[in-house]
Amino acid sequence: SGPGTYSPTGQPTGNPQDKVAQGGAYLTTAQGLRLPDTDHSLKAGPRGPVLLQDHHLREKVMHFDHERIPERVVHARGAGAHGLFRGYGTASNITKAAFLAQDVETPVFVRFSTVIGSRGSMDTARDTRGFATKFYTSEGVFDLVGNNCPIFFIQDAIKFPDVIHAAKWHPDREIPQAQTAHDTFWDFVGLHTEGTFHTIWNMSDRGIPRSYRMMEGFGVHTFRMVDAEGATTLVKFHWKPKLGVHSLVWEEAQLLGGVDPDFHRRDLADAIEAGAYPQWELGIQTFPDTPEQTFEGIDLLDSTKIVPEELAPVQPIGLLTLNRNPSNFFAETEQVAFHVGHLVPGIDVTDDPLLAGRLFSYLDTQLTRLAGPNFPQIPINRPHAPVNDMLRDGFHQAAVHRGVAPYRPNSLDGGCPFTAGAVEGGYVEVPMEVSGRKVREAPASFADHFSQSRLFWLSLTPVEREHTIAAYTFELGKCYEQAIKERYLRVLANIDPVLCQQVAEGLGLPAPQASEPLADPRPSPALSQVGQTWPAD
Ligand code: HEM
Repeated sequence: SGPGTYSPTGQPTGNPQDKVAQGGAYLTTAQGLRLPDTDHSLKAGPRGPVLLQDHHLREKVMHFDHERIPERVVHARGAGAHGLFRGYGTASNITKAAFLAQDVETPVFVRFSTVIGSRGSMDTARDTRGFATKFYTSEGVFDLVGNNCPIFFIQDAIKFPDVIHAAKWHPDREIPQAQTAHDTFWDFVGLHTEGTFHTIWNMSDRGIPRSYRMMEGFGVHTFRMVDAEGATTLVKFHWKPKLGVHSLVWEEAQLLGGVDPDFHRRDLADAIEAGAYPQWELGIQTFPDTPEQTFEGIDLLDSTKIVPEELAPVQPIGLLTLNRNPSNFFAETEQVAFHVGHLVPGIDVTDDPLLAGRLFSYLDTQLTRLAGPNFPQIPINRPHAPVNDMLRDGFHQAAVHRGVAPYRPNSLDGGCPFTAGAVEGGYVEVPMEVSGRKVREAPASFADHFSQSRLFWLSLTPVEREHTIAAYTFELGKCYEQAIKERYLRVLANIDPVLCQQVAEGLGLPAPQASEPLADPRPSPALSQVGQTWPAD
């Protein structure tokens, strides 16, 4: 640090100096000592040994030695942007969330990511993409930590370490870096068939988006909205890109991965710099908050299921515009810390067992990744609402707290009593009834692993089906173990016989029969998540 080298708030000043790393008249040490020279160590004579007393040398090298922090355990590679969200007010009949009221504008920071690859992996790998949004609302931070895929691989967070161990590189060779084309991934999804829908989504063109600007986003879980009177509605969040949904074809993705591994990162930054600001509408599907928490027979607590849009249309509730690139990747994109538990009045969680594990995991991982409990003080993570907490001390404490009694009530300074005024507008969890036997088991409604994969398959156009068959064939073809390929063909047989037959042919293996009767989705409505309607009879 030194004169002109950083902005304590993280906000650009608009000053041309913003682009200059060392804009001051002279360099200093971290202690502010003026430095006449930073190119030569202090030595006993020009050709003599370097002296231990050279504090500048030790400070400079020590700081450099610690420049890297651990990458995220998942979603390590990403790109971020600042923007603005404007509420339409159309959700105000079901939620009291202030940022969703008509024409309320809220600053946001969005980070897009791949899930599996390391920080230096290629952007165009076949993978799910993260779509995480931090809304700096007047009532505190709200994070919508979603993906570009409306379903997830598993139904219960206790399997998350397992699915990630399987999807990441093999522990012996650390291969592959950024792909699901390997034995452990296909072993896992062959044995844990609740991942069938997420897997076919990734094998379709949706797994290789053309641009972050051309992807949908999904909150995946069902959330609970609450109005001012306490009435509740279940909702699923959707981001719809104004540019439409577009994908690469496999050959493009492969070439780009070599020619420009930063393709998506560059595309986002270049578009924003050129003033072509990407936009998404935020929308919700709404469902009555019944004791069963199902809709048209679909379990709303099962994150491996969608609710087709014909059954529950997506209603637009606001507009997101990304209009400013980060000025420092590390300070903003790398240090941003999202959390599904960052909620505001008017939005609450449900009992989805995948969501419950996430509520623990993000805070826990950030404690290590960002070295201690004070990461909410990092500029990119600071709320734009007043903070008056009783959290004290800890590694990297940047605040100088006042007062002698950080607890309440106290009889020394009487600070911050919970007055009626303070309680009003405070966050109150929805008082849901909770009962049940303590068990480790999934509900029977989680058992159907194939019918929505079949819906998805049937909604694809012929060329999309060709791409999907080619993707399965390529990815399974990379497995060394024949038994893993054979087991996965049995999964495909439960989606569709043609799909199974063609992938089996590509792999040079016999096609098995379905082990379950194939779900006949008709006369249920079509699946339009993919913007398709039913193929004509
Ligand atoms: C990171 C989405 C499930 C643990 C992320 C990120 C996204 C995301 C978008 C990247 C955030 C960023 O850009 O900084 C999702 C979605 C899920 C899901 C949509 C399911 C619906 C889970 C589960 C767990 C988990 C079940 C653990 C039990 C993590 C962890 C990180 C992460 C540890 C790294 C966070 C950090 O280092 O700041 N997830 N995730 N996720 N996720 Fe998830």
